[in-house]
Amino acid sequence: MADLEAITEYLDSVFKPYLFDDIVLNGLQIKCANKQVKNVGLSVDVTGDILAKAGQKEVGLLISHHGLLTRELGRFDLVMSKRLNYIFTNNINIYACHLPMDAHFEFGHSHVLAKMLELADPKPFPNENIPYGCYGRWLGTAKELENKLDEILGTRAKKVFRFSKIVRNPKVAIVSGSGTAFLNDAFSLGINFFITGEPRYSGLVYAKDAQISVFCYGHYQTETLGLYELANHLKSKFDLNRVEVLHSFIDF
Ligand SMILES: [Fe+2]
Repeated sequence: MADLEAITEYLDSVFKPYLFDDIVLNGLQIKCANKQVKNVGLSVDVTGDILAKAGQKEVGLLISHHGLLTRELGRFDLVMSKRLNYIFTNNINIYACHLPMDAHFEFGHSHVLAKMLELADPKPFPNENIPYGCYGRWLGTAKELENKLDEILGTRAKKVFRFSKIVRNPKVAIVSGSGTAFLNDAFSLGINFFITGEPRYSGLVYAKDAQISVFCYGHYQTETLGLYELANHLKSKFDLNRVEVLHSFIDF
């Protein structure tokens, strides 16, 4: 058992959510009656099936990348009411961590992927003030990079747009989730290959003229890597029974 406040205070100190202007309302979004937590779950989204899994596994704190409450949420309707009813009935506290997680060098999905790929000379992308991604050089061929990405992220949602003529030692940038808005920055930095989650048509049109190949491996698939890192970290930091990543996704 661990104290809920101790965990959330620790998460605040690690991610500093108050520093980020974000569409997701970061930090503790839902506070239920329970003050002690036995199991922690981590998820990309907070959907009905994630909540059902959290309930079955007696998760007292769910840490979610996209969270439940966002600025885009227009109204509380029956969909939200159903979720909230389940949340408060099952005492599932919810902590959201979106951009603060993306920008974190240890737990950000793009930073974790850059480490797994062993990119040479990794740097925050697009820059140190907005480090939501990471860039560096892949020492190998384009095919070797693609094989490695297939191995790490799977091919379920894979779409590759080959616009670059570079086949060896490309300069690579990674922005997990929906990253094509950063293609201008990629061009300024001389990036050859851009790895992200979902393709956006306007971004691809730009990438074609900029001769940047775009590797899309799925919004969801690119946004679980940091959750596993954080799960392992929390296991060693707090006296918890179980810490696990809960899955539910739409192919996109
Ligand atoms: Fe996302």
